[in-house]
Amino acid sequence: MAFDIDMIKKVYANMAERVDKAREVVGKPLTLSEKILYSHLWDGNPTVAFKRGKDYVDFAPDRVALQDATAQMALLQFMQAGKAKVAVPTTTHCDHLIQAKQGAVPDLLRANEVSHEVFDFLESVSNKYGLGFWRPGAGIIHQVVLENYAFPGGMMIGTDSHTVNAGGLGMVAIGVGGADAVDVMAGMAWELRFPKLIGVKLTGELNGWTASKDVILKVAEILTVKGGTGAIVEYFGPGAKNLSCTGKGTICNMGAEIGATTSTFGYDDSMERFLRATEREEVADEANKIREYLTGDEEVYENPEQYFDQVIEIDLTALRPLLNGPFTPDLATPVGELGEKARANDWPLKVEWGLIGSCTNSSYEDLTRAASIAQQAIDKKLKPKSDFGINPGSEQIRFTAQRDGLLQTFEKIGATIFTNACGPCIGQWDRSDMLGDQKNTIVHSFNRNFSKRADGNPNTHAFVGSPEMVAAIAISGRLDFDPMNDTLINEDGEEVMLDIPRGIELPPLGFEVDDNGYLAPKEDGSSVEVIVAPDSERLQLLEPFEPIKSSELQGVKLLIKVEGKCTTDHISMAGPWLRYRGHLDNIANNTLIGAVNFFNGKTNFVKNQLTGEYAGVPDAQRAYKAAGVKTIVVGDHNYGEGSSREHAAMQPRHLGVAAVLVKSFARIHETNLKKQGMLGLTFANEKDYDLIQEDDTFNFVDIYEFAPDKQITLELVHADGSKDTIKLNHTYNQAQIEWFKEGSALNVIKKENAR
Ligand code: F3S
Repeated sequence: MAFDIDMIKKVYANMAERVDKAREVVGKPLTLSEKILYSHLWDGNPTVAFKRGKDYVDFAPDRVALQDATAQMALLQFMQAGKAKVAVPTTTHCDHLIQAKQGAVPDLLRANEVSHEVFDFLESVSNKYGLGFWRPGAGIIHQVVLENYAFPGGMMIGTDSHTVNAGGLGMVAIGVGGADAVDVMAGMAWELRFPKLIGVKLTGELNGWTASKDVILKVAEILTVKGGTGAIVEYFGPGAKNLSCTGKGTICNMGAEIGATTSTFGYDDSMERFLRATEREEVADEANKIREYLTGDEEVYENPEQYFDQVIEIDLTALRPLLNGPFTPDLATPVGELGEKARANDWPLKVEWGLIGSCTNSSYEDLTRAASIAQQAIDKKLKPKSDFGINPGSEQIRFTAQRDGLLQTFEKIGATIFTNACGPCIGQWDRSDMLGDQKNTIVHSFNRNFSKRADGNPNTHAFVGSPEMVAAIAISGRLDFDPMNDTLINEDGEEVMLDIPRGIELPPLGFEVDDNGYLAPKEDGSSVEVIVAPDSERLQLLEPFEPIKSSELQGVKLLIKVEGKCTTDHISMAGPWLRYRGHLDNIANNTLIGAVNFFNGKTNFVKNQLTGEYAGVPDAQRAYKAAGVKTIVVGDHNYGEGSSREHAAMQPRHLGVAAVLVKSFARIHETNLKKQGMLGLTFANEKDYDLIQEDDTFNFVDIYEFAPDKQITLELVHADGSKDTIKLNHTYNQAQIEWFKEGSALNVIKKENAR
């Protein structure tokens, strides 16, 4: 499990010099975010000042974290890189594939049966290539990272959007797609557009029922779900110092809900306390030596308007508890005002479930505050009106909470303790109390509350609040309950009030765990066999992609001309298809089935030019592949927006699509196409989109001269024999053209390794 102290010392050894140099280059005091970014440049010492929101910059992250759903394809790809070991410390966490149903023990047993082949694969591949492996039940990726690996001033990437949680311990931690993780694990640079910076100044101190969660619920209200896009949110001010480290983690965690690249806090005493409590004395000692480099310059925080692109100020003393929802995490309502709003909108007032935990809110402090409310229910003879579910964030938290009687308190009020895993937060919840699409309300301390997120039911109205507020609301069973002003009737018919929650930041007896669920990799994994059953329907070892020859780019057929929005979900749907994330051929059966065909307005219904008949997109494409005919996908604006999922590029590539030609790309998808050795091109003249007809054949006439900054000429041969010639733009640099010529970026890495 050991955190890599040598790596941390190396980061800190460079930090002072690089930050001082950056200050010189930028010509002004620096925010913490800038200090971390400039000290992690791929090229070492900073030489130029980057334009925020404009320049693309190569970085060298210190760590990588993978979760089981996304790790499968990432590691299958990494195996193609020809490396003996990952280039930076990396861990794999099994947390997404465990369904919550009866409780921790039976649920984990079932998950180990249902998904054993995925877990076996991840364990063996981690062992072989030097990745730390956290077994199913060991905990949720971000909680485990916070407790074991996060360190002030570090930079990490993770294949999960809530990787940002590690900002609570002063990191710049960013959620990415599997392809980016593969690059870093394989020893390549990681590219990011230099983010804009939003400063949040916190003053005052939390009090009463208000919790760290309410800070981010408030920020979400102010910035909305899109307000943080392309920006790092940096928290500072006297209020920040008054928050616990795990409370800071909660705030950073939900930065994902406002679209922020990440969020972070400067190193302070709360972080030092957390590092020492989690047995990382050495990290705290090292951090203390360069303390001033692990927070923004004083001048920045004194005059934030001059240094951030946007500044928000929140007075913690005046902040009131909020419940955000339903269906979006930015719809904030102060507790106590929700009744009126719910009645006006016909949201069910009766609360069916209160769910506490997830990567967002399962710290010791969270559990003690929520348990203090549960204890009051026992003492004041209140019988909870809603069901309770708790999913601890890690085995360390669970074991410690059990030792200290917290879980027993929850159990006394009828709570089910689920596995230390994502469970209901990611729809892994076999909920037996609601049949069909029944309209109902739940409250939870998770981060996301989009339609269907928790239980697949589009009519479940989910509200997000702090763990202690969730506990209070669930005890009352009503959404309009305000524990600060309302009374409840107990079993003796008496009116009682809940007192304010009491929490303990860190366990007074220290954290404790028997088996934390960690497996260290072998020092030399060369003899380890990676376990993939040849007949598996969930996993498939990858074959390197063959380069697309210039000769194959003559006589190319149209697979689909997509009309309107085409996100990565349209290209590679989620939902039930998640099951096949590790099996390229099986998941390819969903390729582009959500995209609308320009010629008939239908989805998954395209003309197979070889037969003249209509078929589903994957079926038509497989027919072209069988006939050795390459195809092209034509698209509209912002093609491939949405997630950074590499499947959206790998699937068409696997099925034999050679090129994607669009009016404009979402940048990450464009890069993913390049990495998979495909052509990602744009119309030089947008109107040429209108020239594309259903029976067209395409000739890339000068592809033999593919070069940076040189347009490509495309000849369209229509069914009646007439022709149009159009110009295409591309953004390939020389290295990316090599990816195309070699068949993929991984093929290039492999070739370099072999030298
Ligand atoms: Fe898991 Fe939900 Fe966090 S899915 S990683 S607990 S956001």
